Amino acid sequence: MMHSDNWALKAKQLGYRSRAVFKLEEILKKTRTKRFKNVLDLGASPGAWSQFIVKKNSNANVYALDILDMEPIEGVSFFKKNIEQINNIPQILKLKGDFNLVISDIAPNLSGIKSVDNENIFDLNKLTVNIALNFLCKGGTLIMKTFQNSFLKTLRKDMELSFKIVQTYKPVASKKQSGEIYLYGVK
Ligand SMILES: C[S@@+](CC[C@H](N)C(=O)[O-])C[C@H]1O[C@@H](n2cnc3c(N)ncnc32)[C@H](O)[C@@H]1O
Repeated sequence: MMHSDNWALKAKQLGYRSRAVFKLEEILKKTRTKRFKNVLDLGASPGAWSQFIVKKNSNANVYALDILDMEPIEGVSFFKKNIEQINNIPQILKLKGDFNLVISDIAPNLSGIKSVDNENIFDLNKLTVNIALNFLCKGGTLIMKTFQNSFLKTLRKDMELSFKIVQTYKPVASKKQSGEIYLYGVK
């Protein structure tokens, strides 16, 4: 098992902005996800996931959103917006139903009060699932970060109602103690 600092070093050596890239890489590989034409990256900053997608497919159209700034990446259209505002972005709206892949690595700011934080995560995850359902094409893929808490079962059950396939992944590059886990769904 690689130490977390080694993942960070490896990311840097490969020119990626964060070690998060290895989590996406592993999930895409395990799920044999290969369609990267129109991709929506939610909570994209600093940008390693977007970098990875354009590296895999230089023809990909990547649309990235974050409440924080992101340094430009060639081939990536970035919008400094909360995902709640997605319906106010005409460039993205025009591709509604045409996205092959929606990826979300969103982690909300934590208040430190567990019940409040868990509920915030749950709300953001439900919004993300809705966005995916609206923006993905039939057969399109959602990969979404969530956390192992009391809402996880409900979230997964909700996804099972509207996605053909639902799976859970804990990538090796994900810190064990972080409690983060990724949900994968095919619409
Ligand atoms: C773990 S980072 C993403 C790392 C990214 N996948 C990468 O590879 O570089 C999570 C991001 O989610 C963003 N975020 C949190 N809440 C958000 C929201 N409501 N709308 C958009 N972005 C959000 C944060 O600002 C943060 O930059």
